[in-house]
Amino acid sequence: MKVMIMGMDGYLGWPLSMHLSSRGHEVSGVDNLSRRKNVNETGSWSATPIKTMNERRIRYKEVSGKDLTFYRGDLVEPSFTDLVVKKEMPDCIVHLGEIPSAPYSMIDVDHCNYTQNNNIIGNNNILFAMKDHVPNCHLLKLGTMGEYGTPNLDIPEGFFEIEYRGRKDKLPYPRQPGSWYHLAKVHETWNIMFANKIWGLRATDVMQGVVHGVLTDDMETDDLITRFDFDEVWGTAINRFCAQAVVGHDVTPYGKGGQTRGYLALRDSMQCFTLAVENPPDETEYRVFNQFDETYSVNALAEIVSKVAKEYDLEGKIRNIPNPRLEAEKHRYEPDMKHLPALGFKPKFNLEDELRITLPKLIEYKDRIEAKRDKIKPKIFWSQ
Ligand SMILES: NC(=O)c1ccc[n+]([C@@H]2O[C@H](COP(=O)([O-])OP(=O)(O)OC[C@H]3O[C@@H](n4cnc5c(N)ncnc54)[C@H](O)[C@@H]3O)[C@@H](O)[C@H]2O)c1
Repeated sequence: MKVMIMGMDGYLGWPLSMHLSSRGHEVSGVDNLSRRKNVNETGSWSATPIKTMNERRIRYKEVSGKDLTFYRGDLVEPSFTDLVVKKEMPDCIVHLGEIPSAPYSMIDVDHCNYTQNNNIIGNNNILFAMKDHVPNCHLLKLGTMGEYGTPNLDIPEGFFEIEYRGRKDKLPYPRQPGSWYHLAKVHETWNIMFANKIWGLRATDVMQGVVHGVLTDDMETDDLITRFDFDEVWGTAINRFCAQAVVGHDVTPYGKGGQTRGYLALRDSMQCFTLAVENPPDETEYRVFNQFDETYSVNALAEIVSKVAKEYDLEGKIRNIPNPRLEAEKHRYEPDMKHLPALGFKPKFNLEDELRITLPKLIEYKDRIEAKRDKIKPKIFWSQ
Protein backbone atom coordinates (compact mmCIF):
# COMPACT_ATOMS: atom_id res chain seq x y z
CA MET A 1 0.00 0.00 0.00
CA LYS A 2 1.20 3.59 -0.65
CA VAL A 3 1.12 5.38 2.71
CA MET A 4 1.86 9.08 3.14
CA ILE A 5 2.73 10.24 6.63
CA MET A 6 2.11 13.89 7.40
CA GLY A 7 4.40 14.84 10.30
CA MET A 8 7.08 12.27 9.42
CA ASP A 9 9.76 13.90 11.59
CA GLY A 10 7.66 13.80 14.77
CA TYR A 11 7.59 11.63 17.87
CA LEU A 12 5.03 9.27 16.30
CA GLY A 13 5.65 9.95 12.61
CA TRP A 14 9.26 8.80 12.54
CA PRO A 15 8.77 5.39 14.21
CA LEU A 16 5.57 4.82 12.24
CA SER A 17 7.37 5.54 8.95
CA MET A 18 9.97 2.87 9.72
CA HIS A 19 7.38 0.44 11.05
CA LEU A 20 5.11 0.63 8.00
CA SER A 21 8.09 0.53 5.65
CA SER A 22 9.41 -2.60 7.39
CA ARG A 23 5.99 -4.21 6.83
CA GLY A 24 6.44 -3.69 3.11
CA HIS A 25 4.40 -0.53 2.56
CA GLU A 26 5.69 2.17 0.24
CA VAL A 27 6.14 5.09 2.62
CA SER A 28 6.48 8.79 1.85
CA GLY A 29 6.19 11.68 4.27
CA VAL A 30 5.92 15.41 4.80
CA ASP A 31 7.18 17.69 7.56
CA ASN A 32 8.06 21.36 7.91
CA LEU A 33 10.34 20.59 10.89
CA SER A 34 8.36 23.07 13.00
CA ARG A 35 8.38 20.81 16.05
CA ARG A 36 12.15 21.19 16.31
CA LYS A 37 11.86 24.98 15.89
CA ASN A 38 8.99 25.35 18.37
CA VAL A 39 10.78 23.32 21.05
CA ASN A 40 13.88 25.50 20.54
CA GLU A 41 11.70 28.59 20.89
CA THR A 42 10.63 27.47 24.38
CA GLY A 43 14.27 26.92 25.34
CA SER A 44 14.12 23.14 25.58
CA TRP A 45 15.20 20.07 23.64
CA SER A 46 14.56 16.38 23.30
CA ALA A 47 16.28 14.25 25.97
CA THR A 48 17.25 11.90 23.16
CA PRO A 49 19.57 13.62 20.65
CA ILE A 50 17.66 13.11 17.39
CA LYS A 51 19.30 13.11 13.98
CA THR A 52 18.22 15.30 11.06
CA MET A 53 15.66 13.86 8.65
CA ASN A 54 18.37 13.27 6.04
CA GLU A 55 20.62 11.45 8.50
CA ARG A 56 17.69 9.37 9.72
CA ARG A 57 16.67 8.31 6.22
CA ILE A 58 20.24 7.45 5.21
CA ARG A 59 20.76 5.38 8.37
CA TYR A 60 17.40 3.62 7.92
CA LYS A 61 18.37 2.73 4.35
CA GLU A 62 21.69 1.29 5.64
CA VAL A 63 19.97 -0.98 8.18
CA SER A 64 16.86 -1.93 6.18
CA GLY A 65 17.73 -1.39 2.53
CA LYS A 66 14.52 0.62 2.16
CA ASP A 67 13.88 4.15 0.97
CA LEU A 68 11.65 6.67 2.70
CA THR A 69 10.60 9.54 0.43
CA PHE A 70 10.53 12.90 2.24
CA TYR A 71 9.06 16.29 1.30
CA ARG A 72 9.96 19.28 3.43
CA GLY A 73 7.11 21.77 3.39
CA ASP A 74 4.17 23.33 5.20
CA LEU A 75 0.72 21.71 5.11
CA VAL A 76 -0.78 25.15 5.72
CA GLU A 77 0.25 26.05 2.14
CA PRO A 78 -2.60 24.71 -0.04
CA SER A 79 -0.45 24.55 -3.19
CA PHE A 80 2.27 22.51 -1.44
CA THR A 81 -0.19 20.04 0.09
CA ASP A 82 -2.00 19.70 -3.24
CA LEU A 83 1.30 19.09 -5.04
CA VAL A 84 2.63 16.35 -2.76
CA VAL A 85 -0.68 14.46 -2.63
CA LYS A 86 -0.97 14.67 -6.42
CA LYS A 87 2.62 13.46 -6.83
CA GLU A 88 2.34 10.50 -4.45
CA MET A 89 -1.30 9.46 -5.05
CA PRO A 90 -1.41 7.62 -1.69
CA ASP A 91 -3.87 4.89 -0.71
CA CYS A 92 -3.70 6.09 2.89
CA ILE A 93 -2.70 9.41 4.46
CA VAL A 94 -1.77 9.23 8.14
CA HIS A 95 -2.14 12.79 9.37
CA LEU A 96 0.09 13.44 12.38
CA GLY A 97 1.42 16.79 11.12
CA GLU A 98 0.12 19.16 13.76
CA ILE A 99 1.22 21.14 16.79
CA PRO A 100 0.37 18.76 19.67
CA SER A 101 0.83 20.86 22.81
CA ALA A 102 -1.98 22.20 25.03
CA PRO A 103 0.33 24.44 27.11
CA TYR A 104 1.95 25.89 23.95
CA SER A 105 -1.48 26.93 22.68
CA MET A 106 -2.22 28.57 26.05
CA ILE A 107 0.86 30.87 26.11
CA ASP A 108 -0.82 33.88 24.47
CA VAL A 109 -2.91 34.96 21.48
CA ASP A 110 -0.07 34.36 19.01
CA HIS A 111 0.48 30.76 20.15
CA CYS A 112 -3.26 30.08 20.27
CA ASN A 113 -3.71 31.40 16.73
CA TYR A 114 -0.59 29.68 15.41
CA THR A 115 -1.77 26.32 16.80
CA GLN A 116 -5.34 26.65 15.57
CA ASN A 117 -4.35 28.01 12.15
CA ASN A 118 -1.65 25.38 11.66
CA ASN A 119 -3.82 22.46 12.70
CA ILE A 120 -7.22 23.38 11.26
CA ILE A 121 -5.96 24.80 7.95
CA GLY A 122 -3.39 22.05 7.39
CA ASN A 123 -6.12 19.48 7.91
CA ASN A 124 -8.45 21.32 5.52
CA ASN A 125 -5.75 21.40 2.85
CA ILE A 126 -5.34 17.64 3.11
CA LEU A 127 -9.11 17.14 2.77
CA PHE A 128 -9.27 19.29 -0.38
CA ALA A 129 -6.18 17.64 -1.91
CA MET A 130 -7.74 14.21 -1.28
CA LYS A 131 -11.01 15.27 -2.86
CA ASP A 132 -9.22 16.58 -5.97
CA HIS A 133 -6.65 13.82 -6.51
CA VAL A 134 -7.34 10.67 -4.44
CA PRO A 135 -11.04 10.61 -3.51
CA ASN A 136 -10.78 6.93 -2.56
CA CYS A 137 -7.80 7.44 -0.24
CA HIS A 138 -8.21 6.63 3.48
CA LEU A 139 -7.46 9.50 5.87
CA LEU A 140 -6.17 8.22 9.21
CA LYS A 141 -6.31 11.37 11.29
CA LEU A 142 -4.90 11.82 14.76
CA GLY A 143 -7.29 13.44 17.15
CA THR A 144 -7.05 13.04 20.89
CA MET A 145 -9.07 11.56 23.75
CA GLY A 146 -8.87 15.11 25.10
CA GLU A 147 -11.59 16.09 22.63
CA TYR A 148 -14.14 14.44 24.91
CA GLY A 149 -12.97 16.11 28.12
CA THR A 150 -14.04 14.41 31.34
CA PRO A 151 -17.85 14.03 31.26
CA ASN A 152 -19.72 12.37 34.12
CA LEU A 153 -20.89 9.70 31.64
CA ASP A 154 -19.23 6.79 29.87
CA ILE A 155 -17.34 7.89 26.72
CA PRO A 156 -18.28 5.97 23.55
CA GLU A 157 -16.29 5.91 20.31
CA GLY A 158 -17.42 9.09 18.61
CA PHE A 159 -21.18 8.61 18.56
CA PHE A 160 -23.92 7.77 21.04
CA GLU A 161 -27.63 6.96 21.07
CA ILE A 162 -29.68 9.62 22.81
CA GLU A 163 -33.34 9.96 23.68
CA TYR A 164 -34.62 13.53 24.07
CA ARG A 165 -38.27 14.56 24.52
CA GLY A 166 -39.44 11.15 23.43
CA ARG A 167 -37.35 10.95 20.24
CA LYS A 168 -34.15 8.95 19.62
CA ASP A 169 -31.13 9.68 17.44
CA LYS A 170 -27.48 8.64 17.01
CA LEU A 171 -25.38 11.77 17.37
CA PRO A 172 -21.75 12.81 17.74
CA TYR A 173 -20.84 12.55 21.42
CA PRO A 174 -20.50 16.03 23.02
CA ARG A 175 -16.94 17.36 23.06
CA GLN A 176 -15.67 19.34 26.06
CA PRO A 177 -12.07 20.22 25.21
CA GLY A 178 -9.78 21.81 27.79
CA SER A 179 -7.34 23.99 25.79
CA TRP A 180 -7.09 26.02 22.55
CA TYR A 181 -5.16 23.06 21.11
CA HIS A 182 -7.92 20.60 22.00
CA LEU A 183 -10.52 23.00 20.59
CA ALA A 184 -8.71 22.95 17.26
CA LYS A 185 -8.84 19.15 17.26
CA VAL A 186 -12.60 19.26 17.78
CA HIS A 187 -13.00 21.66 14.89
CA GLU A 188 -10.96 19.33 12.68
CA THR A 189 -13.25 16.47 13.63
CA TRP A 190 -16.26 18.49 12.43
CA ASN A 191 -14.44 19.38 9.21
CA ILE A 192 -13.60 15.74 8.50
CA MET A 193 -17.20 14.66 9.18
CA PHE A 194 -18.41 17.39 6.84
CA ALA A 195 -15.95 16.37 4.08
CA ASN A 196 -17.17 12.81 4.52
CA LYS A 197 -20.78 13.98 4.21
CA ILE A 198 -20.37 16.13 1.11
CA TRP A 199 -17.59 14.29 -0.77
CA GLY A 200 -17.80 10.79 0.69
CA LEU A 201 -14.14 10.86 1.81
CA ARG A 202 -13.37 7.84 3.95
CA ALA A 203 -11.73 8.55 7.27
CA THR A 204 -10.71 7.10 10.61
CA ASP A 205 -10.64 9.77 13.31
CA VAL A 206 -8.41 8.40 16.07
CA MET A 207 -9.08 9.69 19.57
CA GLN A 208 -5.70 8.80 20.95
CA GLY A 209 -4.64 8.61 24.57
CA VAL A 210 -1.22 9.76 25.73
CA VAL A 211 1.60 7.75 24.16
CA HIS A 212 4.64 6.88 26.28
CA GLY A 213 7.98 5.26 25.55
CA VAL A 214 10.90 6.09 23.30
CA LEU A 215 12.00 2.90 21.53
CA THR A 216 10.49 0.61 18.92
CA ASP A 217 11.84 -2.56 17.32
CA ASP A 218 12.98 -0.62 14.23
CA MET A 219 15.37 1.60 16.21
CA GLU A 220 18.39 -0.61 15.86
CA THR A 221 20.73 2.20 16.86
CA ASP A 222 20.22 5.51 18.65
CA ASP A 223 20.69 7.18 15.25
CA LEU A 224 17.12 6.06 14.63
CA ILE A 225 15.66 6.97 18.03
CA THR A 226 12.61 9.21 18.28
CA ARG A 227 12.30 12.39 20.30
CA PHE A 228 11.52 12.45 24.03
CA ASP A 229 10.35 15.80 25.40
CA PHE A 230 10.18 16.38 29.13
CA ASP A 231 9.62 20.12 29.69
CA GLU A 232 6.37 21.77 30.83
CA VAL A 233 5.34 22.74 27.28
CA TRP A 234 6.12 19.62 25.25
CA GLY A 235 6.49 16.86 27.82
CA THR A 236 3.50 14.77 28.87
CA ALA A 237 3.02 14.15 32.61
CA ILE A 238 4.62 10.73 32.33
CA ASN A 239 7.64 12.08 30.44
CA ARG A 240 8.10 14.85 32.99
CA PHE A 241 7.92 12.35 35.86
CA CYS A 242 10.52 10.09 34.21
CA ALA A 243 12.86 13.02 33.59
CA GLN A 244 12.42 14.30 37.15
CA ALA A 245 13.22 10.87 38.59
CA VAL A 246 16.34 10.58 36.42
CA VAL A 247 17.84 13.89 37.64
CA GLY A 248 16.85 13.38 41.28
CA HIS A 249 14.09 15.99 41.24
CA ASP A 250 10.81 15.35 43.09
CA VAL A 251 8.12 13.84 40.87
CA THR A 252 5.44 16.54 40.78
CA PRO A 253 1.82 15.71 39.80
CA TYR A 254 -0.32 18.79 39.26
CA GLY A 255 -3.05 19.54 41.82
CA LYS A 256 -4.84 16.74 43.64
CA GLY A 257 -3.63 14.26 40.99
CA GLY A 258 -6.95 12.53 40.32
CA GLN A 259 -6.88 13.67 36.64
CA THR A 260 -7.35 10.41 34.76
CA ARG A 261 -6.47 9.73 31.11
CA GLY A 262 -5.88 6.86 28.70
CA TYR A 263 -2.29 5.76 28.03
CA LEU A 264 -0.65 3.66 25.36
CA ALA A 265 2.91 2.38 24.85
CA LEU A 266 4.65 3.68 21.71
CA ARG A 267 5.15 0.12 20.47
CA ASP A 268 1.44 -0.67 20.97
CA SER A 269 0.52 2.54 19.13
CA MET A 270 2.43 1.15 16.11
CA GLN A 271 0.19 -1.93 16.24
CA CYS A 272 -2.97 0.26 16.42
CA PHE A 273 -1.93 2.44 13.46
CA THR A 274 -1.00 -0.61 11.42
CA LEU A 275 -4.38 -2.24 12.04
CA ALA A 276 -6.18 0.95 11.05
CA VAL A 277 -4.05 1.43 7.89
CA GLU A 278 -4.41 -2.19 6.78
CA ASN A 279 -8.15 -2.37 7.57
CA PRO A 280 -9.51 0.81 5.98
CA PRO A 281 -13.11 1.92 6.44
CA ASP A 282 -15.63 1.15 3.73
CA GLU A 283 -15.80 3.61 0.85
CA THR A 284 -17.59 6.74 2.11
CA GLU A 285 -17.40 5.62 5.78
CA TYR A 286 -16.39 7.92 8.64
CA ARG A 287 -15.41 6.02 11.79
CA VAL A 288 -13.96 6.94 15.17
CA PHE A 289 -11.49 4.81 17.14
CA ASN A 290 -10.63 5.44 20.79
CA GLN A 291 -7.00 4.39 21.09
CA PHE A 292 -5.43 3.60 24.48
CA ASP A 293 -4.38 0.54 26.55
CA GLU A 294 -4.82 1.56 30.16
CA THR A 295 -6.20 4.45 32.20
CA TYR A 296 -4.34 6.03 35.11
CA SER A 297 -4.71 9.06 37.34
CA VAL A 298 -1.62 11.28 37.41
CA ASN A 299 -1.06 10.24 41.05
CA ALA A 300 -1.07 6.59 39.96
CA LEU A 301 1.36 7.43 37.13
CA ALA A 302 3.68 9.17 39.58
CA GLU A 303 3.56 6.16 41.92
CA ILE A 304 4.40 3.72 39.12
CA VAL A 305 7.24 5.89 37.79
CA SER A 306 8.57 6.22 41.34
CA LYS A 307 8.33 2.45 41.93
CA VAL A 308 10.17 1.53 38.72
CA ALA A 309 12.71 4.36 39.24
CA LYS A 310 13.76 2.72 42.53
CA GLU A 311 14.84 -0.37 40.54
CA TYR A 312 17.51 1.94 39.04
CA ASP A 313 18.51 3.47 42.40
CA LEU A 314 16.59 6.66 41.71
CA GLU A 315 14.64 8.20 44.59
CA GLY A 316 11.47 9.37 42.79
CA LYS A 317 9.96 11.22 45.78
CA ILE A 318 6.42 12.41 44.95
CA ARG A 319 5.26 15.95 45.76
CA ASN A 320 1.98 17.38 44.41
CA ILE A 321 2.25 21.00 43.27
CA PRO A 322 -0.43 23.64 42.39
CA ASN A 323 -2.16 22.89 39.10
CA PRO A 324 -1.44 25.48 36.35
CA ARG A 325 -4.39 24.12 34.32
CA LEU A 326 -8.13 24.46 34.83
CA GLU A 327 -9.33 20.87 34.85
CA ALA A 328 -11.30 18.47 37.05
CA GLU A 329 -8.91 16.89 39.55
CA LYS A 330 -11.29 14.08 40.52
CA HIS A 331 -13.76 12.72 38.01
CA ARG A 332 -15.28 9.70 36.33
CA TYR A 333 -13.36 8.32 33.33
CA GLU A 334 -14.87 5.34 31.53
CA PRO A 335 -14.03 5.46 27.80
CA ASP A 336 -14.94 2.59 25.46
CA MET A 337 -12.28 0.90 23.32
CA LYS A 338 -13.95 -1.73 21.18
CA HIS A 339 -13.16 -1.03 17.53
CA LEU A 340 -9.41 -1.72 17.61
CA PRO A 341 -9.75 -4.96 19.64
CA ALA A 342 -12.40 -6.02 17.09
CA LEU A 343 -9.68 -5.67 14.42
CA GLY A 344 -7.32 -7.82 16.50
CA PHE A 345 -5.51 -5.27 18.69
CA LYS A 346 -3.95 -6.91 21.74
CA PRO A 347 -1.89 -4.62 23.99
CA LYS A 348 1.55 -6.10 24.57
CA PHE A 349 3.40 -3.53 26.64
CA ASN A 350 2.05 -2.25 29.94
CA LEU A 351 3.30 0.88 31.63
CA GLU A 352 5.78 -0.83 33.94
CA ASP A 353 7.32 -2.88 31.11
CA GLU A 354 7.69 0.22 28.99
CA LEU A 355 9.24 2.22 31.85
CA ARG A 356 11.89 -0.49 32.22
CA ILE A 357 12.92 0.35 28.65
CA THR A 358 12.46 4.12 28.84
CA LEU A 359 14.17 4.89 32.16
CA PRO A 360 17.53 3.19 31.37
CA LYS A 361 17.58 4.97 28.00
CA LEU A 362 16.96 8.32 29.72
CA ILE A 363 19.67 7.60 32.28
CA GLU A 364 22.10 7.41 29.30
CA TYR A 365 21.03 10.97 28.42
CA LYS A 366 20.80 12.29 31.98
CA ASP A 367 23.13 15.24 31.19
CA ARG A 368 20.74 16.52 28.52
CA ILE A 369 17.85 16.48 31.01
CA GLU A 370 20.00 18.09 33.71
CA ALA A 371 20.90 20.91 31.29
CA LYS A 372 17.21 21.83 30.90
CA ARG A 373 15.82 20.86 34.33
CA ASP A 374 14.58 24.43 34.93
CA LYS A 375 12.17 23.91 31.96
CA ILE A 376 10.11 21.28 33.79
CA LYS A 377 8.46 23.56 36.37
CA PRO A 378 5.12 24.98 35.10
CA LYS A 379 5.04 28.67 34.15
CA ILE A 380 2.07 28.67 31.77
CA PHE A 381 -1.20 29.12 33.66
CA TRP A 382 -4.60 28.52 32.05
CA SER A 383 -6.33 31.37 33.89
CA GLN A 384 -3.80 34.13 33.14
N1 LIG B 1 2.07 11.83 21.28
C1 LIG B 1 0.94 11.69 21.94
O1 LIG B 1 0.90 11.21 23.10
C2 LIG B 1 -0.35 12.07 21.29
C3 LIG B 1 -1.55 11.84 21.97
C4 LIG B 1 -2.75 12.19 21.36
C5 LIG B 1 -2.74 12.76 20.10
N2 LIG B 1 -1.56 12.99 19.47
C6 LIG B 1 -1.60 13.60 18.14
O2 LIG B 1 -0.78 12.87 17.26
C7 LIG B 1 -0.17 13.75 16.30
C8 LIG B 1 1.33 13.54 16.33
O3 LIG B 1 1.80 13.77 17.63
P1 LIG B 1 3.35 13.73 17.98
O4 LIG B 1 3.45 13.53 19.45
O5 LIG B 1 4.06 12.84 17.04
O6 LIG B 1 3.73 15.26 17.67
P2 LIG B 1 5.08 15.86 17.01
O7 LIG B 1 5.05 17.32 17.22
O8 LIG B 1 6.26 15.12 17.53
O9 LIG B 1 4.88 15.50 15.47
C9 LIG B 1 4.16 16.32 14.60
C10 LIG B 1 5.04 16.60 13.40
O10 LIG B 1 4.28 17.38 12.47
C11 LIG B 1 5.07 18.42 11.96
N3 LIG B 1 4.18 19.52 11.58
C12 LIG B 1 3.43 20.31 12.38
N4 LIG B 1 2.77 21.23 11.64
C13 LIG B 1 3.10 21.01 10.35
C14 LIG B 1 2.76 21.65 9.13
N5 LIG B 1 1.97 22.73 9.11
N6 LIG B 1 3.29 21.17 7.99
C15 LIG B 1 4.14 20.10 8.00
N7 LIG B 1 4.50 19.46 9.13
C16 LIG B 1 3.99 19.91 10.31
C17 LIG B 1 6.02 18.77 13.10
O11 LIG B 1 7.22 19.40 12.64
C18 LIG B 1 6.27 17.42 13.75
O12 LIG B 1 7.44 16.81 13.25
C19 LIG B 1 -0.61 15.15 16.68
O13 LIG B 1 -1.72 15.53 15.90
C20 LIG B 1 -1.03 15.00 18.13
O14 LIG B 1 -1.98 15.96 18.48
C21 LIG B 1 -0.37 12.65 20.03
